[in-house]
Amino acid sequence: MEGNMIMGKKAKTRCIGILTAGGDCPGLNAAIRGVAKAALHHGMRVTGILDGFRGLVENRTHPIEDIHVSGILTLGGTFLGSSRDKPHKMKMGDKVMDLTGVAVANARRLQLDCLVCLGGGGTQKNALHLHQVGGLNVLTLPKTIDNDVVMTDVSFGYDTALGIATEAIDRLHTTATSHHRVIVCEIMGHTAGWLALGAGIAGGADVILIPEIPYDLEAVAAHLRNRRRHGKRFSIVAIAEGAISIAEAQRLAKDRKAGKKKDKAAPPRVESNGMHLVQEAMASRMARQLQQLTGLEARVTSLGHVQRGGSPSATDRLLCTRLGTQAGQLLSEGKYNVMVAVRGDACVPVPLESVAGLVKLVPPDHPQVVAARLVGTCLGDWKEA
Ligand code: F6P
Repeated sequence: MEGNMIMGKKAKTRCIGILTAGGDCPGLNAAIRGVAKAALHHGMRVTGILDGFRGLVENRTHPIEDIHVSGILTLGGTFLGSSRDKPHKMKMGDKVMDLTGVAVANARRLQLDCLVCLGGGGTQKNALHLHQVGGLNVLTLPKTIDNDVVMTDVSFGYDTALGIATEAIDRLHTTATSHHRVIVCEIMGHTAGWLALGAGIAGGADVILIPEIPYDLEAVAAHLRNRRRHGKRFSIVAIAEGAISIAEAQRLAKDRKAGKKKDKAAPPRVESNGMHLVQEAMASRMARQLQQLTGLEARVTSLGHVQRGGSPSATDRLLCTRLGTQAGQLLSEGKYNVMVAVRGDACVPVPLESVAGLVKLVPPDHPQVVAARLVGTCLGDWKEA
């Protein structure tokens, strides 16, 4: 192959950078591999940028050739490393600085025609910022176990996490049954309930609580008591980490109306040194309250980062390979400033402006919600099917 010529057609992109940002998830290595192999196939030079946008600002890179992406399809995590840093709000020592200019200058020095960013909602926003403020060409892929990126049917990482959380609920079922207990299982998802809802339905949870449907604790307790009355001596409560009670939802709505941006009643999330505070699982509070209200013995399990670890599922491997290679195709055509989205059977480019800053939440009348109600699952809001 001569330069970036392929089958007589010259690729419009000569050099790309790839970074992975935000929380990691299974499938990142498979997606890097897909992008890199397709880009190399089209004769492009590929540079890996380490630890997300921080690596771009600190100029930490690694050339990627076929040998570097060989054998990584099945590996969890990201071999490039990841971080939650934003170019325009970068923590440097004890200062937070806008280093957009440095990021752009480094990308130019690396002669990148396009920066490929693999990430969730925050990454889509940061990529758009680099394009709009710094004039860089960018292209993104939707990654997150939360499945909350808009304009795409699904994000990669979700299927694997769904499998892990479902298997965990299966395992909790057998021990809950043996001991006639209520087990509350906390599932990730940030402000969206996709993962808790999906795993809750697939694992046959008796109660599923998601942020989009605020709960009444008494409704949950009544459901558990009712099950016991009907001879069902165990219950599984799948609760999304972002689930909120009706009272909390009302207070938040009031604050929002009054123009308050921050939830003053929420526990602080960041320590004075900028590190995230290790939070108590909210499921512990729920288990304690349910035990008091029902008199049933309760236990708690917070699945946490287990949901983000390990090897991607076959579905995610396939999805990452399709998304990644489609990114390579689009790059060869010089198509930039888009996210590659899943639409039915196709992977299609959608304008980054239509993605950044938005969150895909579960509509309260979503078919999965309807199905859950029809099999008798309590969603915490008194409404029966
Ligand atoms: O966005 C993915 C996610 O795993 C969320 O579900 C969760 O709220 C968050 O990341 C946890 O982030 P961290 O990696 O900072 O603990």
